[in-house]
Amino acid sequence: MAKIEGTCREVCEATEFMAIVTSGDDGPHVVGNWGHYMRTLGIKGDLIVLPAGRYHKTEQNLRKNNRVQLLVASKAVKGTRSPGQGCLITGTAEIVSSGEAFDAVKAKFPWARGALVIRVLEAATQL
Ligand SMILES: Cc1cc2nc3c(=O)[nH]c(=O)nc-3n(C[C@H](O)[C@H](O)[C@H](O)COP(=O)(O)O)c2cc1C
Repeated sequence: MAKIEGTCREVCEATEFMAIVTSGDDGPHVVGNWGHYMRTLGIKGDLIVLPAGRYHKTEQNLRKNNRVQLLVASKAVKGTRSPGQGCLITGTAEIVSSGEAFDAVKAKFPWARGALVIRVLEAATQL
């Protein structure tokens, strides 16, 4: 069964951007990506693939600890009590510079130096 479904899927379809958090020796490190970029490549099974243009510190962190957390949110999706829902996505990730995911990224984002491939382990609503 896909890990991102139901309300979390709706939020991913609507989110404007996403925050991506990795852990380094010096603590948490947050970077961004656009919801539109995630939707351009599509969520396939448990995989989210994003274009990596920079993400040098993120890559360094992932080599030591591949755990990653993503936060997506949209006011357009109903929360349990009011308009707006967010979803915390937990998984593992790596930046690849060859293979299927990289080719898919390069075809849509020629400026990318790599593909950030996130394997989703869990997705949970926050509101
Ligand atoms: C909304 C948003 C979208 C972004 N999209 C991308 C992106 O698609 N690819 C990318 O490499 N950096 C993107 N960035 C920039 C990175 O978050 C930023 O350059 C980051 O500091 C670089 O990663 P690093 O600190 O791990 O080296 C985006 C930033 C924001 C705020």
